[in-house]
Amino acid sequence: MNTREHPRIPDVQDTDVLIIGSGAAGLRAALAAAAVPGIDVTLLTKSVLKESNTRYAQGGIAVAMNVDDTLALHVQDTLVAGAGLCDVSAVETLVAEGIPRVAELIDWGAAFDWEGTLPRFTQEAAHSRRRIVHKGDATGRETTDVLVQQVLNTEGIHVLTNAFALEMLTAENQCYGVLALVEGERVALRAKSTILATGGLGRLYPCTSNPEVATGDGIAAAWRAGCELIDMEFVQFHPTTLFLDGAPHFLISEAVRGEGGKLLTIRGERFMEKYHELGELAPRDVVSRAIHTEMHLTGFPCVYLDITHKPAEFIVERFPTIFETTQRYGLDIRRDIIPVRPGAHFMMGGVRTNTEAETNVRGLYACGEVACTGVHGANRLASNSLLECLVYGSRAGTNAATFAQTETVGFSHVDSHAPDTAPLADDEVEDVTRTMRETLWKNVGIERDAAGLQETVAALQQLARTPRHQEMQDVTTSRRPGETNVTTPEMSAERLANYERTERIANYERYEATNMLDVARCITEAALLRTESRGAHYRSDFPEKDDTTWHRRIILTRDKAPRLIALEG
Ligand code: FAD
Ligand code: SIN
Repeated sequence: MNTREHPRIPDVQDTDVLIIGSGAAGLRAALAAAAVPGIDVTLLTKSVLKESNTRYAQGGIAVAMNVDDTLALHVQDTLVAGAGLCDVSAVETLVAEGIPRVAELIDWGAAFDWEGTLPRFTQEAAHSRRRIVHKGDATGRETTDVLVQQVLNTEGIHVLTNAFALEMLTAENQCYGVLALVEGERVALRAKSTILATGGLGRLYPCTSNPEVATGDGIAAAWRAGCELIDMEFVQFHPTTLFLDGAPHFLISEAVRGEGGKLLTIRGERFMEKYHELGELAPRDVVSRAIHTEMHLTGFPCVYLDITHKPAEFIVERFPTIFETTQRYGLDIRRDIIPVRPGAHFMMGGVRTNTEAETNVRGLYACGEVACTGVHGANRLASNSLLECLVYGSRAGTNAATFAQTETVGFSHVDSHAPDTAPLADDEVEDVTRTMRETLWKNVGIERDAAGLQETVAALQQLARTPRHQEMQDVTTSRRPGETNVTTPEMSAERLANYERTERIANYERYEATNMLDVARCITEAALLRTESRGAHYRSDFPEKDDTTWHRRIILTRDKAPRLIALEG
């Protein structure tokens, strides 16, 4: 057991089920856990309650509810996009349980766009049916608002904001909560079961649709605690993020192409037909690579998306957020074509779980983007992620609460797991992060090859060459559960308004940078191992798919050599 002295025993707080992250997965998990009798839930999040990738989701939620749709078709489209690496039973669960989960969201008040007696389903790439429920182009905001309101209205869920999960607390391959920084103070949050719902890692790349919080913290902490990671080479690049001087890499939803948007080169020529029979609605990896190639061929740093042929009123009504945001930067998408280029968007891989959301560490569950059940394979189908959060968030919450009901734990001696690298000094963070991002963008982005990946391994080693730090060490405590309790906030509308007004008060950047370095190493290692091209992983030195060798998935564990597992069929 990895025990060391630590400078001081942190404050200790106890709960039955601890959930880390307040996106759709964490919020849905909290509701499911709190529905189990006698269970006390703590939801911890590093920023304000509503800040997450979820909040920025635009396109919608894929669900087989339309009159001409079936579960089998939705499963089939997901498997095709996943390029042979999906776990079929995880996909079947996603699609089947997606229907009651979305229906329940509507019951709770989600005001999706509606037409007659059905939601107004939209089209997105690689879907054989119109099956995306949405609220204009702000589906994530609506989903977040509804779930947050449900959480605040539910007794037994305690919320801690501005609280950063540093390291998992474990002993003998069982998880007992997390060591966290809560408004700058180190606190051991002990729990009978713990759910990681920390989302994705787009911020590892300089060009990304993801907000600041998406730094892969949960993946890094889980890996350090002995969790298996899987499919880490599969990072999805969304084809169309805004490319304008001074503007953020704001997402221009795939639904714009779903509603007829065309991609053009700087010369005004359409090009997608050259790359795929589905043109602009080809799978995301195909469109991103095509744009990457056209940018290279034209020597121009972006392509353009043209929706100007649609009626002006339709554009404003269907895409109000995109319309308003681009307008702020001087573009009028009713008349102007939109400069776009691919950006890091979604992590298909992550902490390996089964369909019960269990990891290989007892008492530790994972759901949403941080987790990898295998539903996305090598490439996620558009709008399947929010669905995954609802379905597997709910499963994680129920299972973690059931586990907590039967668990009589003594927290007498638990470990936390220090990273291999020191948390960087404040003045190092900017340089290290910038160098890491540029290196990943160049070598571990849309196109990869052995030379670039090896160069990245060396660069990451160099960046991490700081002494093993002594700060986030083991937690040894003799206190028992229940001795100190997590403060229970008043769940009022006023309190919610305060959450919204609160700025991110603590500076977690140096811990995030350390986590990003760990996760970058895992992505690069897996990308180097997979000597083929499949889904979002494209190796220019191995441009073909190789089912003979690579109908397999790569598992990484901190203290073991990488392992390959074969897929059935
Ligand atoms: P998140 O929503 O990212 O939540 C993670 C939470 O964990 C956050 O609250 C974060 O603050 C917290 N957290 C992270 N690290 C720590 C830490 N160390 N300590 C404490 N808390 C922590 N998917 C779709 O299906 N449909 C769409 O239309 C769609 N559009 C998208 C548009 C954009 C711009 C983006 C970025 C993504 C989009 N996606 C879409 C993907 C989808 O939104 C995400 O995959 C999904 O919302 C992830 O949800 P989550 O709950 O797993 O994580
Ligand atoms: C989008 O609106 O294009 C994003 C959809 C997704 O990531 O599923």
